Amino acid sequence: MANQAKLEIVGGRPLQGTITVSAAKNAALPLLAAALLTEEEVVFDNLPRIKDVEAMLEVIQQVGGTIRELEDGRWAISGRNLDASREVPNELVRKIRASNLLLGPLLARCGMAHLSMPGGCSIGSRQMDQHIKGFRALGCQDIAISGGYIKAHGPLPLQGTVIHLDVASVGATENIMMAATLAAGTTVIRNAAKEPEIVDLQNLLNKMGAHIRGAGTDVIKIEGVKKLKGTSHSIIPDRIEAGTHLVAGVITNGQLTVKNIIPEHVEAVTAKLMEMGVKLEIGDDYITVFPHDWQLKAVDIRTQPYPGFPTDMQAQFMALLTLVPGISLITENIFEARFNQVPELNRLGASIKTENGTAFIKGVAKLTGAEVSATDLRAAAALALAGLAAEGKTIVENIQHLERGYEAFVEKYCQVGAQMRRITGS
Ligand code: EPZ
Repeated sequence: MANQAKLEIVGGRPLQGTITVSAAKNAALPLLAAALLTEEEVVFDNLPRIKDVEAMLEVIQQVGGTIRELEDGRWAISGRNLDASREVPNELVRKIRASNLLLGPLLARCGMAHLSMPGGCSIGSRQMDQHIKGFRALGCQDIAISGGYIKAHGPLPLQGTVIHLDVASVGATENIMMAATLAAGTTVIRNAAKEPEIVDLQNLLNKMGAHIRGAGTDVIKIEGVKKLKGTSHSIIPDRIEAGTHLVAGVITNGQLTVKNIIPEHVEAVTAKLMEMGVKLEIGDDYITVFPHDWQLKAVDIRTQPYPGFPTDMQAQFMALLTLVPGISLITENIFEARFNQVPELNRLGASIKTENGTAFIKGVAKLTGAEVSATDLRAAAALALAGLAAEGKTIVENIQHLERGYEAFVEKYCQVGAQMRRITGS
């Protein structure tokens, strides 16, 4: 497609210096939806400037949410004029999957929701059955998917109950938590997802006057309240952005400090790096990786829900393991089609085969720059990291995927010595 932005990278330079992590995309999106649960303003002081947040703000305005950028870059969001009967353009919803996180707040405040189905994406089918199961249990008997839309009507207030999830889905846990905050009685979510972003959502909602306990464990209890109020909030740092930068330091054999990290949130990542033989210094809010001269060991990775190894770091580690001597195995257990980066990494000279959800990576001595194409957010990050390590010039096409989830990616890497620039395609 003409004018699609590309990344031009000249690789082979060890990264040196400090990169600071922005706020978490996967916390910002549900927290923005949660702001619609009150008529008052919720002020976020560190919304990441990424395409997914821009798209979510657009969808929020479409359903009557108000958004204001304050002079110092903070954003004030409220659901004062929330109107679930308003039609949200299909193409807008399809641009941002996380728009399905508006279902909970709309049902809780308006007793109805009518949103386009986000549909599958390049990493998998991305079901919504657990979300629907939760809403039905909370009293929404009239909920159906037709004509590509989810149409739901429910009682006001919703009715608290016990919901046992079949899959520890992050999105379903968040949606049900938000819907249950204004329900009559108590809701218990069993087999809930435990990601740090869910704890950040609980912390915001409790500051808004909700009564939620247990986020971060597999049992979450929500005592419904009549009304929620405004508040201000700082979003947690992005653990996946942090992990991406740590791998960038290792893949370039550099010395890189990644700041504004909650080390506990990236333990599965740092444990795997140390298992490979990478030397790390872990501070209160920073982690430094040190040069290793490729004295690294091949490892096996199986993606799991938190606190297991995050699927959102799988592609970046695959890029790194292409240069680690020996055979490494990566098994993707969360999304059935998340190896899109494989043929592109092989174009750079990697040696990867895949079979039944497992990738077999045979370490090679070097990668060589080439034109490659990104298909999704984390695949784009993996190709950029491989480009930083490859000899010569690499062109990564379709970096609109990267800009969905990484704030100031090019600027941050150029500050630590990368030769990287954004070019628009002809
Ligand atoms: C969140 O997606 C993240 N997105 C994803 O990050 C992340 O990969 C994923 O959690 C897993 O950690 C946001 O937070 C905005 P799920 P979500 O519901 O909520 C199945 C990135 O790169 N499932 O936990 O959509 C589903 O098909 C993105 O930043 C059902 O079967 O993930 C998948 O296989 C990509 N039924 C698995 O569960 C359901 O109703 C995990 O999905 C819901 C999900």
